[in-house]
Amino acid sequence: MLDDIKALKEEIATYSITNQDELEEFRLEFLSRNGRVQSMFKNLGSVAKEDRAAVGKGMNEAKQLAQKRFDEAKINLEESTATIRKATDDLTLTAPVTPIGSLHTLTQTMDEMKNIFYRLGFTIADGPEVEDDFHNFTALNFPPNHPARDEQDTFFVRKNDDPDVMDLVLRTHTSPVQIRMMENTQPPIRSIMPGRVYRNEAVSQKSYFLFHQVEALYVDENVSVADLKETLITFVKLMYGSDVKYRLRPGFFPFTEPSLEMDIWWGSEKDGKWLEILGSGMVDPNVFKASGVDPEKYTGFAWGMGVERIAILKYGIDDIRTFYENDIRFLEQFN
Ligand code: DAH
Repeated sequence: MLDDIKALKEEIATYSITNQDELEEFRLEFLSRNGRVQSMFKNLGSVAKEDRAAVGKGMNEAKQLAQKRFDEAKINLEESTATIRKATDDLTLTAPVTPIGSLHTLTQTMDEMKNIFYRLGFTIADGPEVEDDFHNFTALNFPPNHPARDEQDTFFVRKNDDPDVMDLVLRTHTSPVQIRMMENTQPPIRSIMPGRVYRNEAVSQKSYFLFHQVEALYVDENVSVADLKETLITFVKLMYGSDVKYRLRPGFFPFTEPSLEMDIWWGSEKDGKWLEILGSGMVDPNVFKASGVDPEKYTGFAWGMGVERIAILKYGIDDIRTFYENDIRFLEQFN
């Protein structure tokens, strides 16, 4: 009996299984209820008592071996059919296109601006979007009843009649970051401060209730208007190419004196118009005083650029709302 078991094991171990049919034959032969292994178990009762343990053990081993071979052969066959299917694929077919995301137009524009100013030696800083009245207005030399403080333009987060409690606003420009910068750092300062700003304006082709600015602040001894002009002109040439058509004209801001605004020509030679991209100027001594910088010792320039405007000119977009609608057909054009 033990010899029979040994022979059976041998047969199980060497049985040839090279395809699905042979696998099925193997199963019927050794693993099915009427298969040879089960038949042997039926005979166990007639084995002499003293041999029973050894025979039973041998039979179990045969059964396990058969199961193991079956499982392994099954997996092998599945893998090889998969390989065969791959080998017959048409390798000349183009690969399926997996859509991948890309950076938003505004992010791309901001990154480009940051790169240019980084090359010009500016560091990058930021500040909070919820600001207090002092940083957003007072320290920037806005008179107490300036129209920009009006609820028409400003989103108030906390409005209070008690003069001891400061109003909180969504910042209406990135200029308050200048104040925070000077409160925390003594000159020389040469930084840009990009970020979101908010204004309570009706949505139209030209305005939106949120937009982006890149603020700049350059404070040192002997900084002049010539430095400001030179920096702005270098920037627009790097951004739009050396043949960009620009103009600088006088402007007014409470926090700069003198103030300048910069326009870029948009459209063709004959059929175009000036588009304002930034406000700038020499930092007003009152602003230095409010933020702890000595106006006798230092001078400085500052600007606030409109990122949407810069992007509109760069990419020929004519409606500011398209930046915020997230229409995939718009976004895909700028991959
Ligand atoms: N904060 C101004 C605005 O939002 C822009 C601006 C003008 C910023 C002149 C400046 C500046 O730093 O010097 O309209």
